[in-house]
Amino acid sequence: MNNFKNTVASDLLSCISGLAGDITLTKDDILGMFEYPPDSSLGDIAFPCFKLSRILRKAPPVIAQEISASFKSELVSKVEAVNGYLNIFVSNDYLIKNVLLRIEEEGEQYGSDGSGKGKVAVFDYSSPNVAKPFHIGHLGTTIIGHSLKMLHKFQGYDCVGINYLGDWGTQFGKLIVAYNLWGDKAKIEEGGVDELVALYVKFHEEAENDDSLNQRAREEFTKLEHHDETNIGLWKWFVELSLAEYQKTYKQLGIEFDSYKGESFYTDKMPAQIQVLRDKNLLKIDDGASIVDLSEYNMPPCLILKRDGSTLYPTRDIAAAVYRKQTYNFDKCIYVTSAGQSLHFAQWFKVVELMGYDWHDKLVHVPYGTVSINNEKLATRTGNVILLKDLFATAIEKVNEIMNEKNPNLPNRAEIAEAVGVGSVIFYYLYNNRIKDINFVMSDALSFEGNTGPYAQYTYARTFGILEKAGDLNYNATEPVITSSEEAELLKVLSKFNEAVKSAIKEYEPSVITRYIIDVCSAFNKFYHNCQIVSAEDEIVRNTRVRLTAATKTVLGSAFELICLKKTEKI
Ligand code: ARG
Repeated sequence: MNNFKNTVASDLLSCISGLAGDITLTKDDILGMFEYPPDSSLGDIAFPCFKLSRILRKAPPVIAQEISASFKSELVSKVEAVNGYLNIFVSNDYLIKNVLLRIEEEGEQYGSDGSGKGKVAVFDYSSPNVAKPFHIGHLGTTIIGHSLKMLHKFQGYDCVGINYLGDWGTQFGKLIVAYNLWGDKAKIEEGGVDELVALYVKFHEEAENDDSLNQRAREEFTKLEHHDETNIGLWKWFVELSLAEYQKTYKQLGIEFDSYKGESFYTDKMPAQIQVLRDKNLLKIDDGASIVDLSEYNMPPCLILKRDGSTLYPTRDIAAAVYRKQTYNFDKCIYVTSAGQSLHFAQWFKVVELMGYDWHDKLVHVPYGTVSINNEKLATRTGNVILLKDLFATAIEKVNEIMNEKNPNLPNRAEIAEAVGVGSVIFYYLYNNRIKDINFVMSDALSFEGNTGPYAQYTYARTFGILEKAGDLNYNATEPVITSSEEAELLKVLSKFNEAVKSAIKEYEPSVITRYIIDVCSAFNKFYHNCQIVSAEDEIVRNTRVRLTAATKTVLGSAFELICLKKTEKI
């Protein structure tokens, strides 16, 4: 609708100027005033005349009447003055030329305005902590992060996806002690991260009664920090094992990272930044620790060095941000984590500003709410946390059961069950505003009715099925013509793709796309149920409808990619 709004705004401006002589009104003012009416009987866009009332010294309904009497625009089929609003109806000609033909011409690029070209965006997301469970709390950072990356990429940004692995810290000292005492190499090779987590849990249980274990853990970590060969070997092994396991989940999701530089990578990059902090007189000693006082900004102090001189989470984040600015020269660096870390980010972003880095305002924290699971008990070896892989496995298993019943002879069943199972979780999660806490109900996520992943994927498969049936006859042989309200409505929804993309990026909110997908699906399904497509008798009607189906498939496909949903051709 952007093109439509733009042209109509110009036409309105000349119309209003014609009515009122010289008034100070710009096209942008008009664009800012447009509204989407609550239902389509009130037009496709509405122009409220209330603000003009003061400038023109006339009642809004009178202004709306006057404009409607003299307004002309090629793209508009009619205008109506109703209660101080000018209701504007888009013409079918516009829908054909500016929506259908453009989708056909631009294909997978349709919906992108290229506004990110020449800009670099860095995404720090997923970032699990090695040898700790990769649990449902990581679902948000992983799929919101990836979706934001895909959205930016779609708009033309150069994107760098970084998995900032939690691969450094005292937990490795604990793990080394636990491994040396109770570890079994073969068992770990076999069981992977689960075994490491079990060792870690055992360490904590034992250390409750035996504090000397904690002391030993600190010693082992210090040895690691001093590059002790044995400990470095163990650490590398733990990291590799964990990564191999995460990769399985990333593969299911279709996610690849451009960099896996985790916290350990920055150990030698911190001293330089600590020096900057010192040079700028920002460090204060508080009970032996070095902090940056942020009381002036109503925040607790940011901890930079512990009493024993060791660095902390914020210290590494500061060093990593400087490194990334130097390496990628980003226009935005986006961090996706749970809202529980909001203070951490606010604090160290402020410290970066105080350090004098003028790019501090290019750092963006994107927080999200918590996930809990209802009605479904997912067994894990680690007790109360639910692992991401178990959540996906359960969803896939359930889809398999449904498919056994409904479509037992489908080829590639395993692949499709995975796409639909994983997709249902993604979709359910991304349907909500990211900041909201989510209660996950598996049966709702898996329903084929309602606003779900399976419904969206089923609709995509439906477009595929229709096009397969249509075969490759020349559907372009005739000029397309709109002959039903369902076709017009579908094109109107398709015309709003770029607006959805822009608003998802502006708000860092993938749910805008998830909801947009549902809008496309329901407009398409209405069209499908009320209009004959391949079987339409009239050639022009048939040709138009097949092309509309193809256009829907194109837009749905692009939108699916933006939220990591697989394009299922058959279900
Ligand atoms: N590893 C952290 C965790 O699991 C998340 C890291 C987020 N990124 C960052 N640059 N601090 O909580």
